[in-house]
Amino acid sequence: MSKDSLTITDNRTGKSYDVPIAFGTINAMDLRQIRANSDDFGLMSYDPGLANTAATKSTITFVDGEQGILRYRGYGIEQLAERSSYLETAYLIIFGCLPTRSELQVWETEVGRHAMLHLNIQRLIETFRYNAHPMSVFISAMSSLSTLYPESREVTDPTNRRLQVERMIAKVATIGAFCYRHNQGWPFNYPDDSLSYVGNFLRMMFRMTETHYQPHPVLEHALNALWILHADHEQNAGTNAMRVIGSTHADPYSALAGAAAALYGPLHGAANEAVLRMLEQIGTVRNVPGFIDRVKKGEGRLMGFGHRVYKNYDPRCRIIKRIADEIFEVTGRNPLLDVALELERIALQDDYFMSRKLYPNVDFYSGLIYRAMNVPASLFTVLFAIPRTCGWVAQWMELLNDPEQKLSRPRQIYLGEDCRDYVPIEDRR
Ligand code: CMC
Repeated sequence: MSKDSLTITDNRTGKSYDVPIAFGTINAMDLRQIRANSDDFGLMSYDPGLANTAATKSTITFVDGEQGILRYRGYGIEQLAERSSYLETAYLIIFGCLPTRSELQVWETEVGRHAMLHLNIQRLIETFRYNAHPMSVFISAMSSLSTLYPESREVTDPTNRRLQVERMIAKVATIGAFCYRHNQGWPFNYPDDSLSYVGNFLRMMFRMTETHYQPHPVLEHALNALWILHADHEQNAGTNAMRVIGSTHADPYSALAGAAAALYGPLHGAANEAVLRMLEQIGTVRNVPGFIDRVKKGEGRLMGFGHRVYKNYDPRCRIIKRIADEIFEVTGRNPLLDVALELERIALQDDYFMSRKLYPNVDFYSGLIYRAMNVPASLFTVLFAIPRTCGWVAQWMELLNDPEQKLSRPRQIYLGEDCRDYVPIEDRR
């Protein structure tokens, strides 16, 4: 018997089974051979929220929740946030290695070339009410791209895939900025490929009457770093949605819209918006202890705290705090920062949060940064979805290239009614 195995004794039958262990996991299908009798379907595992199930092997992002480590393709986020550009990091995440100078140049040119939006999509964005939530508009516009690029359904063709990847990375920024401009009732600013990816986004967002808009270098640098921190985070809910939809071989725009829809929930990417609304509701430092007491009584959550994987600290949060200081130097200090700092100070000493290993996560301070940059709270999740797109497409490509992957189709434990006869409506009570 191999040492790398698990011996399971089924006490219903007294039989023992040896199941191989590889990469710290057992193969769930190996459980199927364990049956109570010949009619038995076989043993399954039950894992709501997939909290202890590896659904894929991946070489993209490494997260160690205990140590607080996050690496893309082996490179620590600290170095990337300090030294890389968002597009360079996106290349690394998608293609697996840092680009050479000429590879980077081609990549930047290609992404820049696709940043323009077809007029149909612009008009689609304009049809939404001025106060439509930008995330709903963003999701709709993303899925509509598949109507313009029907060849994107050829998901097994690598050349076609690369073209769609360039389009997706390019167009999410334009769509995100246009969602904002529509909300504000301002005309759209078309992309400018003389600027960096992040600089161009700031221009599309904020250019008013200036002929030569130049993004503030500190804001551009800070947003670049912030977007690198958001670029991928292995198998979270949005990425899982991308993979589930991708496993059906649907076109990537539909899959991307599904991933963005998952991100839109307040337990996931919309937590940044929820944090800001929470801070505004608390209002002043004086109200913090009362708010913490209500959270401890179960009357709501401390948004921006806690993480499924990080149980010591979120390494992104430490860098984001530094970015926040750089931004506030330029924009002035937001009084809500004091409320956030006080929340963090009290929570990190409180047994309720300590015993549950609840620490600030990536969303706790990012909203304050965006607010300082004059971005409305309703747009925060869009500013999460734009940089996360490179992670989603990398995971989608990995899925399609992985011979072990199949159509995603989980099992259930059926606890409903047994077979019963149809009851005519006049006989029902
Ligand atoms: N405030 C108060 N209590 C909390 C919080 C919180 N933010 N998070 C977890 N708890 C409590 C929870 O009530 C439970 O307590 P008990 O054991 O007494 O029932 C315990 O901690 C475990 O919580 P859980 O919901 O089982 O843990 P989880 O790993 O499923 O939840 C989470 C992770 C992120 C959904 C959760 O911590 C949460 O809701 N946080 C607030 C929302 C948030 O900030 N989300 C952004 C996540 S990071 C960005 C991203 O990746 O999208």
